[in-house]
Amino acid sequence: MNAELRGQLIEIARTELARCPPDPAHDINHALNVLRYADAIAEVEDADRDVTTAAALFHDVVHYLPTDSRCDLAPGESAVRAGEVLRDIAGFPPAKIPAVEHAIITHSTWLSQEPATLEAKVVRDADLLESIGALALMRTFACAGVMNLALYSTDDPLCSRRPPERLRFALDFASCHMTTIGERLCTHAARRMAAQRLEFVKSFLSEVQFELSPPELELTRRIDR
Ligand SMILES: [Fe+2]
Ligand SMILES: [Fe+2]
Repeated sequence: MNAELRGQLIEIARTELARCPPDPAHDINHALNVLRYADAIAEVEDADRDVTTAAALFHDVVHYLPTDSRCDLAPGESAVRAGEVLRDIAGFPPAKIPAVEHAIITHSTWLSQEPATLEAKVVRDADLLESIGALALMRTFACAGVMNLALYSTDDPLCSRRPPERLRFALDFASCHMTTIGERLCTHAARRMAAQRLEFVKSFLSEVQFELSPPELELTRRIDR
């Protein structure tokens, strides 16, 4: 894809996402990060960049908060909107639009549709990488603020003795979802990119555990350092 067409798609995605209800976890920065990761994975995996670029930019062009009953409809509605937009762009190959729509429909691991093409796997992995690591923690807690969720369970913050409730406690997404993302990644390239992020999330979670229940001895050791 040439730079002019890529720039045109980015500006259209920016305009489309600006029309959506405010959601700090699904704004243009999220789309651009998914695009960066999709670029990197596609390069290694030799995927079709026309398809991965368009799908990454438009994958959340329709989105609803996780607490909204329409949430599961978002990938299908995003695919329809992406198709409409791409059919209006003279420089985008019409024959590749169904592949873009498939990648968008199957990007979410919360739904049952599985990616059937390399390009769809690249876009799903790129989106999953945005769900693990430092930026993902920022997105998680920002989105939790919009939904008015509690930050964590005071009884059992890391889900040691209870099932996760990600729509009740923001930290449950980090402790139970982020730490298992590696198992859901499809490509080797994404698995390599996820490894460092996973270590960061684990160290964040152990710091949370420490701050919520600092054993006296450990606290003293830290003060002495
Ligand atoms: Fe999504
Ligand atoms: Fe996304």
